Amino acid sequence: MMNINTFKENFDKRLPMELKPYLNDDVISEAIEYASYDAGKRLRPFILHSLGSELELDKRLVNAFAVALELIHNYSLVHDDLPAMDNDDYRRGKFTVHKKYGEANAILCGDALLNLSMEYLAHKLRDNDNKNILKAMSYMYRSSGVKGMILGQSEDIRMESGDIGEYTYDDYKTMILNKTGRLFNIAFLVPCILADKDEDTMKNVLIFSRLFAMSFQIKDDLDDLKENKEIDGNNILKFHSLEEAKEILEENLKKMKALQAKLNYETTKYSLELIK
Ligand code: IPE
Ligand code: IPE
Ligand code: MG
Repeated sequence: MMNINTFKENFDKRLPMELKPYLNDDVISEAIEYASYDAGKRLRPFILHSLGSELELDKRLVNAFAVALELIHNYSLVHDDLPAMDNDDYRRGKFTVHKKYGEANAILCGDALLNLSMEYLAHKLRDNDNKNILKAMSYMYRSSGVKGMILGQSEDIRMESGDIGEYTYDDYKTMILNKTGRLFNIAFLVPCILADKDEDTMKNVLIFSRLFAMSFQIKDDLDDLKENKEIDGNNILKFHSLEEAKEILEENLKKMKALQAKLNYETTKYSLELIK
C-alpha cells in the first residue's frame, strides 16, 4: 500500500497534466491552477484511491474519482475563505484566491472547480463499463450538496452569527458531520459503491468514516489551541475541556478499532495513523 506522502507527490505531479485539456489561459483557469496545484495534504483523494486500489477497482476509475473529489474539496475551500464566509487571507501557506485574484474571480474559480469536477469525471469515464458509476456520482454530488457539505457550511454560519442562540455539542457535532464529514464519507464510500460491496460493509465503512471525520475535526480544533489561535468560532473547546476532548478522541479510536477488526482493510487501518 502506498503511503500518503508518496501519493501526494504523484498526485501533485499528475494533476496539472490531467486538467490541462480542460483549461484555457484566462484568469479563471490561472486561479484554478493556483487553488489546486501543489496544495494541501490530499487526504481525501488518498483515502479514495487507496481503498479503491485495495478493492481492485480499475485504476482509471479510481484516479478519476480521486481527482474529482479533490476538485470539490478545493472549490469548497476557495468559497469558504471568501469575505462573506470566513474572510481568510491565507490558505495552505499562501494568499487565498480572492486575496490574489479578487473576490469576483474567486467566486467564479470556485464555481468552475465544481463544474470541472463533473465535466472531468464524465469525460474520463465515458467508456468505462463499471455499472455503478452513476450511483457513485449521485452519492458524491448529494453528499457535497445542499443536504450535505453545503448544509454543514450554512449551519456553521448560522451558529456563528448567533441566529440560533444557544446550541449544544450535539448540534456542533451534526454540523461537523456535514461540513467536514461528508467529503470523508465520499472518500470511503465511493470505492465501496463502485466495488458493489454488501450493505453490512457499507454501513460499517460509513460509521468508520464519520468517526474518522469527527476525530480529524477535533484534532484540527486542538491544533488551533497549539498554534495559539484565538478559539472564537466553532471549536470543540467551546463545549468540552481539553481533557474531555482527548477522551472523546480515545473513545472514537476504540470504536474505529472495533470496526477495523470487522472490515480488515489496509486503508482503514492506515487511516487510524492519520488522526493520531
Ligand atoms: C481543511 O481540510 C478543511 C477542513 C475540513 C478542516 P484539510 O486539512 O484536509 O485541507 P488541505 O486539503 O490539506 O489543505
Ligand atoms: C472548511 O471548514 C470546510 C469546508 C470548506 C467544507 P473550516 O472553515 O472549519 O476550515 P478552515 O479552517 O477554513 O480550513
Ligand atoms: Mg474556514
